[in-house]
Amino acid sequence: MNKIADIYQQKPYSDTAQRMLLRKPQIFINNEWADSTGDDTLAVIDPSSGREITRIVEANSEDVNRAVAAARTAFDDGRWTGLPAIAREQMIHKLADLIEAHTDELAELEAIDNGKPIGMARAVDIPAAVNMFRYTAGWATKISGETIEPMSTPGGAFHSYVRREPAGVAGLIVPWNFPLIMVANKVAPALAAGCTLVLKPAEQTSLTALRFADLVAEAGFPPGVVNVITGNGHLAGDLLVKHPDVDKIGFTGSTEIGKLINRNATDTLKYVTLELGGKSPVIILPDVDVSEVSPGAAQAVFFNSGQICVAGSRLYAHRSIFDRVLEGIAETADFWAPRPSLDPEGHAGALVSKEQYERVRGYIEAGKKAGAAIAMGGDAPSADGYFVNPTVLVDVKPEMSVVREEIFGPVVVAQRFDDLDEVAKQANNSVYGLGASVWTKDLTAMHKLAAKIKAGTVWGNSHSLIDPALPFGGYKESGIGREQGRYGVESFTQLKSVIIKL
Ligand code: NAI
Ligand code: MG
Repeated sequence: MNKIADIYQQKPYSDTAQRMLLRKPQIFINNEWADSTGDDTLAVIDPSSGREITRIVEANSEDVNRAVAAARTAFDDGRWTGLPAIAREQMIHKLADLIEAHTDELAELEAIDNGKPIGMARAVDIPAAVNMFRYTAGWATKISGETIEPMSTPGGAFHSYVRREPAGVAGLIVPWNFPLIMVANKVAPALAAGCTLVLKPAEQTSLTALRFADLVAEAGFPPGVVNVITGNGHLAGDLLVKHPDVDKIGFTGSTEIGKLINRNATDTLKYVTLELGGKSPVIILPDVDVSEVSPGAAQAVFFNSGQICVAGSRLYAHRSIFDRVLEGIAETADFWAPRPSLDPEGHAGALVSKEQYERVRGYIEAGKKAGAAIAMGGDAPSADGYFVNPTVLVDVKPEMSVVREEIFGPVVVAQRFDDLDEVAKQANNSVYGLGASVWTKDLTAMHKLAAKIKAGTVWGNSHSLIDPALPFGGYKESGIGREQGRYGVESFTQLKSVIIKL
């Protein structure tokens, strides 16, 4: 037997968390907890220990139909859209307040379900979810249409205007990397726009979405406005995508499943918003202060163990500073060393699942086989949890899978460049186009690169700031549409022209 070092042993759960884990697996329909009509359940694993800690419902088609019917009725009878917009805004604020009041509990659930450090969940995940609800709540009272005159009729002969109406019933399918933030990013704009919804969290991380459902009922939302079902994507998720009573799909996840969802939503011609994968470049120009920038480049890829769609997983450093940047990143190895999620000192946790652990290690091996060299990490501690050490690969070539494909782990490929045009080309040499960062004091170079890079977000001297007020989404195979800000709310609406002969 291998002796596992104490630092890799998960800590005990609080009584509050244990109570949540003892709950019977159920789904949330019409503000009530309901049994599945079937007996199928899925295991919930703590990635820090690899142990099963509870089970959740594996929703079947009857369960999905019941949830969609609840949302459909709640939309059609006007119990949500018929409220004054200010009442909807206030209810969303109430929900934000309740989430904030449960920060510690939700942060612990996130940590034991996803594997991320509890300190990070408390400082980043839960506050970001609260912010998303607070920012978006205000849009409920600010959505508006416009008055446009026809151009083909005599002046004054017609009165015409454009109404902006809610899209209807939204099916929201979210991933496991930031479970509650993803819930907030989808649910908040849907509610502000006046939609009702069925939410399906990722099968790996459903706990905070289930606890969130309690808070929805407590906030006083009318029954059926928010419904939560758990289960596998290819079953429950797929049924939502194809359901004739669902009008809009909001999805975040892999590019592969995003493409499949887009195809599967075609028969019912739903509105679809897709936030997909990325392989985001981090470009460091020669004029920077290397000691300041290197920790930023490390954070760009090692934050959340690289399980973030905008992970800065392709590093391009100017030839004159390349070695020093790598030294600076190597100095952060201890800071980003993985620990069990309930270790209060941890900055990085376990990867979400055995599947992801094997996938990430498989990429590292594939990189080595193809000729890449390990400049840092590359290994995994001996432990029960799914820990992978932060890793830097060098001597890589553009055709290697580690350079082309999304790894979704703490792995960065580092390359040298000589001039701006060359690095812009390299940065754009990807099927993805989600994020990018440029690090320099040269503002002209910054703006030139910002315009050249094909990505939904370009950061300057920072990476990963995703703000509720700013549109977020991808170029190319990183997605369709934009979330957040006005655009995100409008993606849950549709337009109606009203043309009246006077
Ligand atoms: P996934 O794309 O399969 O899962 C995301 C969500 O989609 C989950 O809720 C899942 O249940 C649902 N889903 C899966 N198949 C579906 C279907 N046929 N119809 C409807 N819904 C479906 O991601 P997975 O398998 O967990 O991770 C694989 C890779 O995807 C990762 O290694 C990473 O590269 C990428 N990924 C990217 C994310 C991002 O934020 N861009 C988030 C999660 C994963
Ligand atoms: Mg999958």
